[in-house]
Amino acid sequence: MALSFLHPALRVFDRLSVGERLFVRARLLSAPLEEVARRVEGPRVLDVGCGHGVLCALLAVGFPDRLVVGIDPDPRKVDWARASVGRLPHTRFEAVTVDALAQREPASFDTVTVADVLYLLPSSGWPDFLRACHRSLKPGGQLLLKEAEDDGSWRVRKALLQEKVMVGLGRTRASGGLGFQPREVTLEALRGAGFRVKEVLKLSRGSTTPHVLFEARSV
Ligand SMILES: C[S@@+](CC[C@H](N)C(=O)[O-])C[C@H]1O[C@@H](n2cnc3c(N)ncnc32)[C@H](O)[C@@H]1O
Repeated sequence: MALSFLHPALRVFDRLSVGERLFVRARLLSAPLEEVARRVEGPRVLDVGCGHGVLCALLAVGFPDRLVVGIDPDPRKVDWARASVGRLPHTRFEAVTVDALAQREPASFDTVTVADVLYLLPSSGWPDFLRACHRSLKPGGQLLLKEAEDDGSWRVRKALLQEKVMVGLGRTRASGGLGFQPREVTLEALRGAGFRVKEVLKLSRGSTTPHVLFEARSV
């Protein structure tokens, strides 16, 4: 875990301020993004809600033949991502919604990743969001959805408090919601959006956050 802090891919952030450099390291320390990156398939990847681009860095550094596109509605985040991992020629970052991108570039990606974004939307907004992810994928494409889940434990209460602080401080921009859902709600939303769920991996071992990863395929 501590090695995550020194992950070589994070060197792409060395041009950012000390605060942002520390932030991306803390982000990798606190979320199992390496586990997400390991599972990515295919040469064209879209990361929805990319933030600073930590997952994009894991996907792009050392993989020059892979196109990595990161999108986020928060232009500050996109600026940080462009100024760091975005300097690699096989990456692209845009301040655009997944809905707008899916309209412009339908069926374009082998894999779509979404890491810790859904909890910022009200659950009523999940179907449209997930359907847009589906439209972005080539037929049979892969969706990797990393969230924290409401497993009824103290972990979810701690995670919610932490995220309220992040949104309150203006570090994270919410999209009308802030809350974690039980696993069944996410599974139902994925199926409703046209995905077949292949695997659900609980990744909370050794962590104070109830991380979970859904691997699904568009059908
Ligand atoms: C906790 S951060 C995670 C960033 C990145 N995925 C990571 O794992 O480091 C949540 C991100 O979701 C973005 N976000 C908020 N609402 C969104 C939406 N409707 N669509 C896509 N991204 C959104 C925020 O701007 C923020 O960058």
